[in-house]
Amino acid sequence: MSKATIEINGKKYEFPIVEGTENEQGIDIKKLRAEAGVITLDRGYKNTGSCESAITFLNGEEGVLRYRGYSIESLAEKADFLEVAYLLIFGELPTKTQLDKFYADIKEESAVDEEMKKILDGFPKSAHPMGVLSSLTSALIAFNPSSVNVESEEDMYKAIVKILGKFPVLAAWTLRKKNSLPLNYGDDTLGYVENLHKMMFEKPGKSYSVDKAVIEALDKLLILHADHEQNCSTSTVRMVGSSHAGLFASISAGISALWGPLHGGANQAVIEMLERIKEDGGDTKKFMAKAKDKDDPFRLMGFGHRVYKNFDPRAKIIKKSADEVLGQLGVDDPVLEIAKGLEKEALEDQYFVDRKLYPNVDFYSGIIYRALGIPVEMFTVMFALGRLPGWIAQWREMRLMKEPIGRPRQIYTGTNLREFKEVDKR
Ligand code: ACO
Repeated sequence: MSKATIEINGKKYEFPIVEGTENEQGIDIKKLRAEAGVITLDRGYKNTGSCESAITFLNGEEGVLRYRGYSIESLAEKADFLEVAYLLIFGELPTKTQLDKFYADIKEESAVDEEMKKILDGFPKSAHPMGVLSSLTSALIAFNPSSVNVESEEDMYKAIVKILGKFPVLAAWTLRKKNSLPLNYGDDTLGYVENLHKMMFEKPGKSYSVDKAVIEALDKLLILHADHEQNCSTSTVRMVGSSHAGLFASISAGISALWGPLHGGANQAVIEMLERIKEDGGDTKKFMAKAKDKDDPFRLMGFGHRVYKNFDPRAKIIKKSADEVLGQLGVDDPVLEIAKGLEKEALEDQYFVDRKLYPNVDFYSGIIYRALGIPVEMFTVMFALGRLPGWIAQWREMRLMKEPIGRPRQIYTGTNLREFKEVDKR
């Protein structure tokens, strides 16, 4: 086994190097503080591996993304979302029998307690769907209070199919509430993604139908979002779960983490930015200059990534898909041209080249969501629906590997010991 030597104040310490199946290496510093009396300091965990994981492989320098060894390109082209969910969670692609049983079990568990409707009713219509979804997911615990015995595969499986069944219902309801539509359930004869679409958009008294291209595009988008190793929301799910909080509580926390505009909320922020550029007359150069100006808080949303220092492979697939879907649906969205113009300029601009800033998954996804008729405020909810299998898979892995509670340390920079003064003496 290779080793790393760290020298501190003239004294040398040796630590093992752990190597992954794709040859990435990490110094195992578990004993660093005990032996050398120091910790590592790594703001934003830019160089910190929080776990060993067998779920998703990502090479940001080369733009590679694989789920359980399968390339994202092959899965996006050939698999459907539920197969990918099964693959991520259980490690192998399902047989037809396994997949049918998985879906039957999910459908069996899709009913949500009627009392949940009262909770939803308490939210104003103006509430952001991500906040509502996070709260409703957390509220599910109250109606499913028994904690999961992670030693039992059966218990674990039950919790997994429950959340996969109920989550799309809750997501659809957040939209229906906004649109003043009656709360509904899906149709057992439809596939997972079509059923989700039906629950979101079905109108009372009208028979439901949807263009096949819409469901195919939605399915692909969900696959592309399904997992992305230790990103902010997934790390949150693992962190919350590491205290042995249940699956629903961990997922609810993940939804909150995803909501932020630097993470999943970027898909909403991108379309708002493109609209702003359009309304301002479409001068992309002006906004490029703003993005580069350090005194201006404006950032080119949908650009840059903590891990990808090359094209985000998901962005490549989505860009192609955006062209196809808009063509198939006959949608002419002027912001697509603005987006392409911005991308071209950024890729040739020294500021972006030097910092290796490329379009990320969110740059084009909003344009497709909009073409599919999904309102802007629901974009990040769609991301959450896609990421759900990844969160589940990572939570399950963390519990099966008996990971210790996540508890980073710090370097204290506050005031040293001082004497307390009574209020009248301050
Ligand atoms: N526009 C302009 N400048 C940028 C951008 C951007 N979108 N992204 C990074 N930079 C610059 C930074 O200002 C910094 O410049 P400096 O070295 O001169 O100080 C440099 O590039 C490095 O950026 P950091 O913020 O340090 O990189 P970090 O890895 O911490 O952040 C992040 C990554 C949050 C994604 C960032 O690129 C960003 O804010 N992008 C816009 C938001 C976005 O699209 N988020 C979605 C990410 S994908 C996802 O979560 C699904």
